[in-house]
Amino acid sequence: MHQVGQQANRPNPWPIYAQLRRDRVVQLAEHSYAVGRYDDVLALLHDPRTSSDVHTLTDPGDRIETDPPAFINQDPPGHDRLRGEITRFFGPPDSPGVVNGQEPEIRRQIDTLIGAFPESGEIDVVDDFAYPLPVTVICRLLGVPAADEPQFREWAAQTVSGLDAANLEDREAALKGRNEALLALAGYLGELVKKHRGSPDGSMLSGLANDGGADAMSDIELMINGVLLLIAGHETTVNLIANGTLTLLRNPDALARLRREPEWAVPVVEELLRLEPPIQYLPNRAALTDITIDGTTIPKGSQLTLLLAAANRDPGRFTDPDRFDPDRPDNQHLGFGSGIHYCFGAPLARLEVDLALAALASRLDNPRLIEDPPPYRPSPVLRGPLHLRVAYDARRAS
Ligand code: HEM
Repeated sequence: MHQVGQQANRPNPWPIYAQLRRDRVVQLAEHSYAVGRYDDVLALLHDPRTSSDVHTLTDPGDRIETDPPAFINQDPPGHDRLRGEITRFFGPPDSPGVVNGQEPEIRRQIDTLIGAFPESGEIDVVDDFAYPLPVTVICRLLGVPAADEPQFREWAAQTVSGLDAANLEDREAALKGRNEALLALAGYLGELVKKHRGSPDGSMLSGLANDGGADAMSDIELMINGVLLLIAGHETTVNLIANGTLTLLRNPDALARLRREPEWAVPVVEELLRLEPPIQYLPNRAALTDITIDGTTIPKGSQLTLLLAAANRDPGRFTDPDRFDPDRPDNQHLGFGSGIHYCFGAPLARLEVDLALAALASRLDNPRLIEDPPPYRPSPVLRGPLHLRVAYDARRAS
């Protein structure tokens, strides 16, 4: 039996993924299988014989679920109704300007954060930059009033630290803290929805709260899916900014080019999503029926782990897959998943991380890593540095 992720392997999980890719299907435990080749992962992401609903598992283990589940944990038609409804207030065709409309605010936040760095010396890219940025962005988007943001930020911090505890005892306490923070966040969003009903303000939550259409969401659906947007957008984006900074500092030519050509951030971010994806694998699929791949049958009700990070470095799909090459053609990575659950926030994440990495590249003179590899978060699913200490000679004006 294999283990997919272990803390000791966080800096370099790639040999394990290569090993897992050798067989097309790997049994991880009773009722639990993994696949890691690109074509198989992609096919299963689009396969209606797979489910994201925990109730379809023979052995759900300790997986707990909200009632009703957030749309990431639902299958059609429930998933499609909720995703469609939220999309009406987030993207085309109904709301085409929402994501790009955030750009001035994201730039302002980035300037504020970098402006608070010392003139020269040392920063922790995670604590001082990657971590605070996405919370502010999601707060603005959802319509969390600026006055409530510190409290919101604290809850968000508690939810992330629940994933980062070093040992089991700390982990149990931290997970308790995480659950409490999630409940507090849901309660807060419930109150906010009520306020928005009285006075709509054009924000996403306000649009959803005041919608009288056929697919309108109930209060509890709004709370649960509002928390999903926050968590899914926050824990991932932090890691992409930190993984991206680390990769650029290890590749000085790429860093120098990004400094000269900030618009090159677009392919840089795509390549980072392939090479260093924040979500390493999706453990939340189940087989709705027996699924046979290459002579191995995954029985109905089994847990199916889709190894995105392994697929992204499959030599059968990508030339020289371990190389950081933002100019590689046809970079159809699986860093945002694929199929009906393809990352809802991808356009926002791309914009945020493009701007963040281009700004860091242009505003720090002679940046260098203090510790390589840095300490990593212990979570095997969400991979990224816990801290990323960087020294530099001078901070430039924007
Ligand atoms: C770099 C940042 C991000 C990464 C790497 C990422 C990655 C992913 C992945 C791999 C999935 C697929 C999950 C599955 O198939 O079960 C997903 C889904 C999702 N993401 Fe993201 N995400 C990021 C940022 C965001 C942001 C900023 C938001 C919110 C604004 C967001 C909201 C969601 C939601 C709601 C889903 C569920 C979609 C569905 O079930 O239809 N994500 N994301």
